[in-house]
Amino acid sequence: MQYGCIAEHLGHSFSARIHRELGDYPYELCELAPDTLGAFMNAHDFCGINVTIPYKEAVIPYLHALDAGAEAIGAVNTVVNRAGKLYGYNTDFYGLSALIARIGLDLCGKKVAILGTGGTSRTAAAVARAAKAKTVLRVSRQTKAGTCTYEELCRDHADTEILINTTPVGMYPRLEGTPVALSHFPQLAGVVDAVYNPLRSKLILEAKKRGIPAEGGLYMLVAQAVRASELFFDKAYPADTVTRVFETLQREMQSIVLVGMPASGKSTVGAHLARSMGRSFLDIDAMIVERAGKSIPAIFSEEGEMAFRDLESAVIRETIAPGTGLVIATGGGAILREENVEALRQNGRLYFLDRPLEALLPTEDRPLASSAEAIRALYAVREPIYRACADACIPGAGSVEEVANLIEQEWNT
Ligand code: S3P
Repeated sequence: MQYGCIAEHLGHSFSARIHRELGDYPYELCELAPDTLGAFMNAHDFCGINVTIPYKEAVIPYLHALDAGAEAIGAVNTVVNRAGKLYGYNTDFYGLSALIARIGLDLCGKKVAILGTGGTSRTAAAVARAAKAKTVLRVSRQTKAGTCTYEELCRDHADTEILINTTPVGMYPRLEGTPVALSHFPQLAGVVDAVYNPLRSKLILEAKKRGIPAEGGLYMLVAQAVRASELFFDKAYPADTVTRVFETLQREMQSIVLVGMPASGKSTVGAHLARSMGRSFLDIDAMIVERAGKSIPAIFSEEGEMAFRDLESAVIRETIAPGTGLVIATGGGAILREENVEALRQNGRLYFLDRPLEALLPTEDRPLASSAEAIRALYAVREPIYRACADACIPGAGSVEEVANLIEQEWNT
C-alpha cells in the first residue's frame, strides 16, 4: 500500500473518495485485526497513512517521532514514512479547528462541553484549550476521573455555551437519537457534531431550529484529509481546497427531495430529473404500495389514513441512505409529520413544486384529492406548510423538462 487508511472496520469511510478529489494517487482502505497492527507498522510498507478507530493511540509506540500537537493530544491520525522513519501527526486538530472557524465560533472565554471521552474528544479538548476556552468539560456516560456525567452537565452546567459532540449518537443507521437535549442550555452559542453521516444529525437540526450556529462533521473530515495529504506530499493546497472538496462531496451525498400537492408532478419531474442527473430515483408512494401489496385507495379504505401515514413514515426513515444522493418524490402529505420532514432534511434538500391550484387535477388514485373541492381545501391548509419546510420553491407551471431544469439550476448554484 502506498497511501490509505487503517482501521479495524472501514465500511463507512469516505476517505478514499476525498483523496480522489485531491490528486491522482492510490488511496486504499485497509482493515486490520488488532493482532496484525504491529506487523503492519513494523513492515513500513507504505508512504503515508491515515489511522482511525481504534488505532489512533495504538500506533504511537511504532513511530520514530511525534509532532507536538499529536503528542499533547496523545492520538495520531496521520503517519508519514520518510526514508524509513515514521512521523506521527494529528490532523483532526486542524480539521476541527477549520470546522469551528467555518461557522464563525469563537471559543475564547467560553464554557465548552465535549460529549464523549474517546480520541476525538481529546482532540476537541485540545482545540478548545488552544482557542482559550474558559472551561472545558468532557462528558461521559460513566463516572470517570476528569469528566462529568450527562446528569451533572445538565444540572450544574446549564451555562454551557458551546457543545461539541464526539460520540457516535445520531450516526447512520441510528438516526433518531441526540446525545443530550439542547433545552438544558439556554446560553448555547454554537453546536458542532463530528458525525457526518447523516450530513445533518438530529442534534444539528435541533440546534438550527433554535437559531444556533451548527454544523456536522463532513467539513472536519475533509479538512483533516487535506492536511494529511499535504503532509504525505510535503506540499500546500490552495486555500479554497477544503471548501471546494466539501461542497463537491456534500452535493454528491445529498438527496433532492420533492414535496408538494398531489398531482403537482413530483413523480414525473423526479424521474426525469434523476435520469438527467444520473441519479437513482425513489418514489415514496410507489414504495408504500409495494410494501403494502395494495393500492393507496385500498390502504386508505381498508386500514385508514393513520395506517397509511405510519407506513409512509417508516418508508421515509429507510430512504435516508448513507452517502448516496438520490432524487426522492414524496407523497403530498408526507410533510404533515415533523418527523418525516426532519428525516428527509438529514441528507436532503427539500424542493416545493409550486404548481398553481388550477393546474392540480383530481384523480381517483388519491383518496384525499379526488375532487376539485378536496384539492382546494388541501391546498389552503398545506401550501404554507410546503413553503415553510422547503429549502427552495420551484414554480411548477411549466413542462416536466422545464420544471426539472429549474430544480437542476437551483441545485447547481
Ligand atoms: C396524499 C398524497 C398522495 C399519497 C396519498 C396521500 C396526501 O401522494 O401519498 O394519497 O395526503 O396528499 P401524491 O402527492 O403523490 O399524489
